[in-house]
Amino acid sequence: TEETLVLVKPDGVARGLTGAILARIEAKGYALVDIRLVEPDRETLAQHYAEHEGKPFYEPLLEFMLSGPSVAIRLAGNRVIEGFRSLAGTTDPTTAAPGTIRGDFGRDWGLKVQQNLVHGSDSPESAARELAIWFD
Ligand code: GTP
Ligand code: MG
Repeated sequence: TEETLVLVKPDGVARGLTGAILARIEAKGYALVDIRLVEPDRETLAQHYAEHEGKPFYEPLLEFMLSGPSVAIRLAGNRVIEGFRSLAGTTDPTTAAPGTIRGDFGRDWGLKVQQNLVHGSDSPESAARELAIWFD
């Protein structure tokens, strides 16, 4: 089996969508191995988003992620990394396919794609690295 890191980002928690998002994950059949409400500090977020350091959206992204609690989830199942990314939909919630989390619950609130509700690791290497950051 495989594991991935999912985050319900501050917009998802603030809008009261945690339950709806978890319902989709559970209905798909993945197993919740661990779940916690987190209020990460700047250093944790800088580690998590190291690949984006220097990009124009990096500072606003960190500020957004510091704006309120997130829910961190350790999720397990065969091919869960690609499976959750499929459930989440593409990065931009305006154009993410209907039927996906971002497509059904997300939109542009003024910052294009920043508020897109969830994060999911994008490879086995990312999943191992990110799970160590959020759960160790
Ligand atoms: P994650 O699962 O959150 O990693 O999303 P992703 O893999 O679909 O996107 P990516 O890793 O490229 O970007 C990480 C996060 O940065 C996105 O989910 C957005 O919240 C934010 N982001 C990415 N691109 C932009 C951008 O062009 N503008 C802004 N404001 N935010 C962005
Ligand atoms: Mg990413």
